[in-house]
Amino acid sequence: ADALKIGIAGLGTVGASLAKILVERRDMLTTTCGRPIEIVAVTARTKGRDRGVDLSAAEWFDDPAAMARDATIDVFVELMGGAGDPALAAVKAALSRGVHVVTANKALLAAHGVELAAIAEKNGCILNYEAAVAGGIPVIKALRESLTGNTISRVYGIMNGTCNYILTKMEKEGLSFEACLKEAQRLGYAEADPAFDIEGNDTAHKLSILTTLAFGTKIAADDIYLEGITNISIDDIRAAADLGYRIKLLGVAQRTDTGVEQRVHPTMVPLDSVIAQVDGVTNAVAIESDILGELLMVGPGAGGNATASAVLGDIADIAKSRPGAQTVPALGRPAAALAPYKRAQ
Ligand code: HSE
Repeated sequence: ADALKIGIAGLGTVGASLAKILVERRDMLTTTCGRPIEIVAVTARTKGRDRGVDLSAAEWFDDPAAMARDATIDVFVELMGGAGDPALAAVKAALSRGVHVVTANKALLAAHGVELAAIAEKNGCILNYEAAVAGGIPVIKALRESLTGNTISRVYGIMNGTCNYILTKMEKEGLSFEACLKEAQRLGYAEADPAFDIEGNDTAHKLSILTTLAFGTKIAADDIYLEGITNISIDDIRAAADLGYRIKLLGVAQRTDTGVEQRVHPTMVPLDSVIAQVDGVTNAVAIESDILGELLMVGPGAGGNATASAVLGDIADIAKSRPGAQTVPALGRPAAALAPYKRAQ
């Protein structure tokens, strides 16, 4: 069968891991997907850097929007990050000409997700973003597909690997906040601007996406009570432990009688709870629903391979899909069917 032609925009930690996996596992993926997946175009901020993978056969583009517009591709893989341009313009350009999009960009979706979902729908293309929330944990698929028909009452969890890594390392090794953050950056967990991690914005972006999938409301990333971990000291962590608790940065969204409540803040969780045992870069997402009951998913939340694994799954889904077949609406239901967001009183 014809190869699935992809263009990768962004060759940082995630993009380089993805490219390497696609090249090294080409035969295995061809068997699984029923056709090869080929990287035919790439774009990144810096050309010619050694990324540990030979991409010389792919056409190079200096400009992501030009790649989205002009490259002969079936899928535009957006791994640049950032809520606005160049990611926004490029993703719009791809969807507008019927090219499927796979993205890991939570900031972009938090700001423009509904608009992008509508463009995807109008042009009959797939917009997949499993890697945008909780790294390798398949939480988008769970909410978007597996739990269809359930009424969901609450979604919460640890959604930022960098913060959980910092809190864990401060407690277990007694290292300073700054030293732990530096290490998280070195390991490729942190955002380009780590303020997004430690001030809670990244968790808020992810939470706003889960809220929309869980409750069918428009994305409302600005309506989130937000408190990061920058004020947490080793003394706070020790005091919590003395009381039988551990401090975790949680994102929580719940349905109330008056509307939806969304919040992100450091939370004391009982030491014997599962959430308290989630260490390091690991994430955890809990979903409470009426038919299934409580679902708890725990797994790697950040880093090159964890994120690339989710991106790869999204690409493989497209490779396996038949042209013209009914696709899953990006936000779980048609964009026009999303209810207005109503904040809890
Ligand atoms: N900076 C993010 C984190 C990357 O630490 O969770 C994964 O989204």
